[in-house]
Amino acid sequence: MARIFSGVQPTGNLHLGNYLGAVRNWVKLQQEYECLFCVVDMHAITMWQDPHELTQSTREVAAAMMAAGIDAKKHIIFNQSQVPGHAELAWIFNCVARLGWLNRMTQFKDKAGKNSENASVGLYAYPNLMAADILLYKATHVPVGEDQKQHLELARDIAAKFNNDFGVEGFFPQPEPLILGTATRVMSLKDGMKKMSKSDPSELSRINMTDDADTIAKKIRKAKTDTDPLPQTPAGLEGRAEAKNLLGIYAALSDTSLEDACAKFAGEGFGTFKQHLADLAVAKLGPIQSEMRRLVADPASVDQVLRSGAERARALAEPIIAEVKEIVGFLKP
Ligand code: TRP
Repeated sequence: MARIFSGVQPTGNLHLGNYLGAVRNWVKLQQEYECLFCVVDMHAITMWQDPHELTQSTREVAAAMMAAGIDAKKHIIFNQSQVPGHAELAWIFNCVARLGWLNRMTQFKDKAGKNSENASVGLYAYPNLMAADILLYKATHVPVGEDQKQHLELARDIAAKFNNDFGVEGFFPQPEPLILGTATRVMSLKDGMKKMSKSDPSELSRINMTDDADTIAKKIRKAKTDTDPLPQTPAGLEGRAEAKNLLGIYAALSDTSLEDACAKFAGEGFGTFKQHLADLAVAKLGPIQSEMRRLVADPASVDQVLRSGAERARALAEPIIAEVKEIVGFLKP
């Protein structure tokens, strides 16, 4: 069976963009793949994290995965730092990847900003750790968004170079990107050209997975729109980024196409549409939120799921990392 690996960083609250763009689609992958879903706490600390908040966020992200419907018994939900193989393989990959490769990573440039001299070495080596995450389990498929494609390319290059350098053709597979047709790119509610993001200073720009019904309704009511009525077809959304975003969210939450969503509201004003969207969002997210709240209120149960996930992840990783060490020529313990 094909094996999936994917990761989410525990940095701040999960929002609707994370849910519709990632977690919700992972739920669907469980039928066809063996899945490992990882809370990548080691990636998180490439930028400063308050230790207490990091712990809380790790539990919250795990709780969100469970609440959204990922079966932690059939599949594996765990946090990265509980499996030492990630760090071990990342170090080896630090010695396989070339400086020139990492210099081309656009995310580093974005995240480091102007003051790249002051960025952590970890932020620079971030893609090598991500390659290790995937290849530690010889995962065959990785669901990724547009922004992570370059990192996955790098993981493929690292796999190929390792195999080639050590003369072990086919040892690491070439992990394939899984571009999900059902994944929705959710934009800020205040600016349809910007991705919904946990780092946006405006709370009104995003719907958090922990927002209650009133907050969700208020944020949708206050979302930016234009003054035209809604169009008949998606073609009428061109140049109307905010309208397109809201209809896209409606379509995703109601499991229909953008075409159907347009047809349903054609000619209506945003007042009516927003009311429908708010009701739908509350109906769809409410049950997930209450389950999340229940789980977060019982941290011991979340920790237990993560511990059990890590134990099973270690069992998969150990023979692979042992073989890697032998290939590299490390003396056995
Ligand atoms: N870099 C990914 C992100 O920020 C998270 C991530 C870490 C990941 N390791 C991964 C995603 C392995 C897929 C596979 O979204």
